Amino acid sequence: MMTMHKAYITAVGTYLPEKILSNLDLEKLVDTSDEWIISRTGMRERHIARDDEFTSDMGANAARVALDRAGMKVDDIDVIIVATLSPDYAFPSTACLIQSTLGAKNAAAFDIQAACTGMVYAMAVAKSFIESGMYKNILIVASEKLSSITDYQDRNTCILFGDGAAACIVQGEGPGLEIGKVSLGADGDQSTLLLLPAGGCRNPATKETVEKRMHYLKMDGKEIFRHAVRRMESAAIECIHQSGLKETDIAYLVPHQANLRIIDAIAKRCKIDDDRVIKVVELYGNTSASSIGLALEKLVVENRIKDKDHLLLVAFGAGLTWGSLILTARGDFTL
Ligand code: UT7
Repeated sequence: MMTMHKAYITAVGTYLPEKILSNLDLEKLVDTSDEWIISRTGMRERHIARDDEFTSDMGANAARVALDRAGMKVDDIDVIIVATLSPDYAFPSTACLIQSTLGAKNAAAFDIQAACTGMVYAMAVAKSFIESGMYKNILIVASEKLSSITDYQDRNTCILFGDGAAACIVQGEGPGLEIGKVSLGADGDQSTLLLLPAGGCRNPATKETVEKRMHYLKMDGKEIFRHAVRRMESAAIECIHQSGLKETDIAYLVPHQANLRIIDAIAKRCKIDDDRVIKVVELYGNTSASSIGLALEKLVVENRIKDKDHLLLVAFGAGLTWGSLILTARGDFTL
């Protein structure tokens, strides 16, 4: 009889660049205020990468931390999956660049593009690889240099985004966080609500695309906000119920960090008390794919997870894409 393998997150790691961009710094760039930014988003500061520091560098740094904590050698990595919407190049993949930086010569490597939902999509793919028996040791990296595609003349978007990376190791054996029920979704009909208009084959780079600032991300914030709350709520509830759990069984909510008001709305709708909601948006801003990994690492580092605890991860992003999954602590899960 075929045995079904289970997938466990056995270690996490993160990397944040040194430079900090505060709300006061932003006041000098655009017509905004510390008070407006805090009250509308909950953000105070975000980290910004150096000019010579790229998505693959930050991702490799986070990966090294996770590998070290897992006690895993680079030669043992079977596949590297990178979630990013700000890759070093359109191609080759950032995963290949990270494979080279780490010297992970036995690893296959590819990127996933699901915007801010990328890490949840990557965890779903890693779970399938492990459960099918195809791979045993998987490195997931989420890394973003959003400052490279942010228009610091546009107050609607430039206050929101930060740079940073998160990584996790997914293996066929625990102890660790078992990846349980996954719920993913997408709505391509709403693709224009949040996008990078130029640089792809539809609008290749020209003098005009540069002059029109089309190489910076554009967002309809109000509409995105509305969809984010609705989609994250339904993905989260679906995941809880399909796992045979109740809202009260969730020990911690680990949501995508786009806006404190969105996080609070999801927590309220999922009936999860504030002290069980993990928030890093205040200090890191919205780091897209990396944000859920940064939040998960905070929870792990604080040593708050107990055996059998259920964690609910939920994310939303451009595409539109959304996803939720349940992680259950199995055994003594420490770093
Ligand atoms: O990562 C996944 C995708 N991203 C998200 O999930 C983000 C979702 N959207 C949001 O978080 C919010 O919509 C924003 C934070 C982007 C904006 O907050 P809002 O409460 O929806 O504000 P708004 O866009 O409705 O703007 C309200 C007012 C406007 O002025 P008027 O028209 O009322 O006079 C804006 O021009 O605030 C003005 N405004 C600002 N004022 C000061 C917009 N941006 C700023 C700013 N500073 N930075």
